[in-house]
Amino acid sequence: MSTTTRGALLYEGKAKQVYATQDPDLVWIHFKDDATAFNGVKRASVQDKGEVNARISAHLLGAVGAAGVPTHLVEVRSPRDHICTRVEVIPVEVVVRNVVAGSLARRFGREEGEVLPRPMVEFFYKSDSLNDPPMSDEHALLFGWAEAWELAYLRHAGLRVNDVLKAFWAELGVTLVDFKLEFGRAPNGQLLLADEISPDGSRLWDRATGQHLDKDVFRRDLGDLGDTYRALFARVFGHGLDGGAAG
Ligand SMILES: Nc1ncnc2c1ncn2[C@@H]1O[C@H](COP(=O)(O)OP(=O)(O)OP(=O)(O)O)[C@@H](O)[C@H]1O
Ligand SMILES: [Mg+2]
Repeated sequence: MSTTTRGALLYEGKAKQVYATQDPDLVWIHFKDDATAFNGVKRASVQDKGEVNARISAHLLGAVGAAGVPTHLVEVRSPRDHICTRVEVIPVEVVVRNVVAGSLARRFGREEGEVLPRPMVEFFYKSDSLNDPPMSDEHALLFGWAEAWELAYLRHAGLRVNDVLKAFWAELGVTLVDFKLEFGRAPNGQLLLADEISPDGSRLWDRATGQHLDKDVFRRDLGDLGDTYRALFARVFGHGLDGGAAG
């Protein structure tokens, strides 16, 4: 496993690079410091962002895997590099929400901060060129993006992940408002939770102050994203990135 070597670049996204390895069933995922919002319209380089996302994501994927939701993570190769089972990504983004925020508030004219009576699962079609539009099961079924059993699994797994993450963040005094997941089909046919679970794809509000601890700081110009992410890292791990006092 530790002999995995990095091969050709397969895909460069906004936040990560995906490389082949000598094992056709594994990919090497590298987390970059690039920050983007509004589908790439707003961009910046934020020092340490890749490392914070990679390390928090490895931690949370581990917790979720231990709770019985299989994930793609095979090995943490470096603070910014994950070795993962290669999947065929299902083009359905699974968004789980506990509190109204972001596009849900905009689309339905609801107040940000409204606590939902139970968690809500929404699907969005994963398409940068279309700006990830909201979709229903019918779109996935009739356009051939996923089968009915897969959609049922996505919903079920999304809610299970929410149980784990909500408890994890609550312990740290953080409200898990919402988050996005991606799933894929592994070479053996198994559905795996893929991509990342990080403050880039989550909304995290400090329970005491209401402060945003996630990428909304960048989207909405609420402060320094690097400082926010380093502080969140310290809250999760009890120490700073270099292992020293929280920074
Ligand atoms: N295990 C995996 N195997 C193959 N591809 C993966 C795996 N996990 C994640 N991916 C894909 O790798 C890419 C990660 O790059 P990144 O997150 O930077 O993309 P992005 O800019 O968000 O763009 P998009 O997600 O719209 O393609 C995503 O396309 C994601 O779906
Ligand atoms: Mg992404």
